[in-house]
Amino acid sequence: MTDIFSSFDLRGLPLSSRIVMSAMTRTRATEDDLPTDVMCDYYVQRASAGLIVTECTQVSNQAHGIIRAPGLHRTDQIAAWRKITDAVHTAGGYIYCQIWHCGRVAHQDMRGGEEPVGPSPIPATGDFFLPSGRVEFPVPRELRVDEIPGIVSDFAQATRNAREAGFDGVELHGANGYLQDQFLQDGSNKRTDTYGGSIENRARLMVETAKAMINAWSADRVGVRLSPSSHLYGVDDSNKLETFGFIVRALDELQVGYLCLLEPNAKDNERGVQIRNVAETFRSMTSVPIMVNTGFDKAKANAVLASGNADLVAFGVAYIANPDLVERFRTDAPLNKPDTTLFYGVGAKGYTDYAALETAALALN
Ligand SMILES: Cc1cc2nc3c(=O)[nH]c(=O)nc-3n(C[C@H](O)[C@H](O)[C@H](O)COP(=O)(O)O)c2cc1C
Repeated sequence: MTDIFSSFDLRGLPLSSRIVMSAMTRTRATEDDLPTDVMCDYYVQRASAGLIVTECTQVSNQAHGIIRAPGLHRTDQIAAWRKITDAVHTAGGYIYCQIWHCGRVAHQDMRGGEEPVGPSPIPATGDFFLPSGRVEFPVPRELRVDEIPGIVSDFAQATRNAREAGFDGVELHGANGYLQDQFLQDGSNKRTDTYGGSIENRARLMVETAKAMINAWSADRVGVRLSPSSHLYGVDDSNKLETFGFIVRALDELQVGYLCLLEPNAKDNERGVQIRNVAETFRSMTSVPIMVNTGFDKAKANAVLASGNADLVAFGVAYIANPDLVERFRTDAPLNKPDTTLFYGVGAKGYTDYAALETAALALN
């Protein structure tokens, strides 16, 4: 029977299990967005995952929306990532890079004065934190149509850079209220040109981006993440099922390497989401592998795999405090609890200092 420990052929990549480390921003890059040695330690510690997906990684300066998030658009960044991918491969793991553009989820004060951009001049909702404290999201500058090909080509270049940096593939961050999601959903996209209005127009940026990434590498090596039930940063849609049904089918036509679909979280459920069972809803609309994420533990993960609605399960928070999550699941060992105050930080504390099982056992002897 298929369970989380079953191997999986991810379009030619022989994953040792169906346990994926979900993309997670941890802000341990340098102030000029260069991956660091401590990031290398962190990913190597987690190399027993069937697959690691990195934190979101900006494709350009304009895409930059988180202080100390890494980039993949400069040669020094490619070289720094190369050290990490080599070390993960030596440790027996596979690693994809999640590539990303923040769109309107940014502030000019952390971008040398450059204002954030978006599909329409509507600010994101929620909290944004600068070193000086909480600030309101600014009204983004509406992107001109003639700027969009440049953004698409930044994603293509980042894909080529990921390949050069030794990654096994790339994941387009199409979820959680960032640029492609802002264009897709009608609450944040009020454009009247070829990138707004109809679902086809709103989906155009996501589809063009995925196509460009595929042309830059290959469909097998390009995954896409979508969050059909989320309303993060105020990105929302009047008909989620129709909109996400359209994009899932469009990405299926491109035969992307996988779709990572986020189930609703507690906040989404509180609000009363339109789509409760995401993997179940979209499974019949696509033949590409489905990676599911959000709120899974071992039992729920095995259940979703057994139901046939997903092929892979990504774990987020559990991976923060449990570098050896696969082994803990295998032995039903208790999970370490993460320190939420150190999710975002600088250095090793709360990052690479969570004990693996054998270290914990040695400490007891
Ligand atoms: C600290 C932290 C950082 C995150 N950063 C990202 C990110 O960079 N990209 C992304 O797609 N999701 C990000 N997420 C969301 C996770 O990938 C995942 O979807 C979420 O934690 C739900 O999965 P879980 O219930 O297994 O934790 C982040 C989550 C956390 C807790």
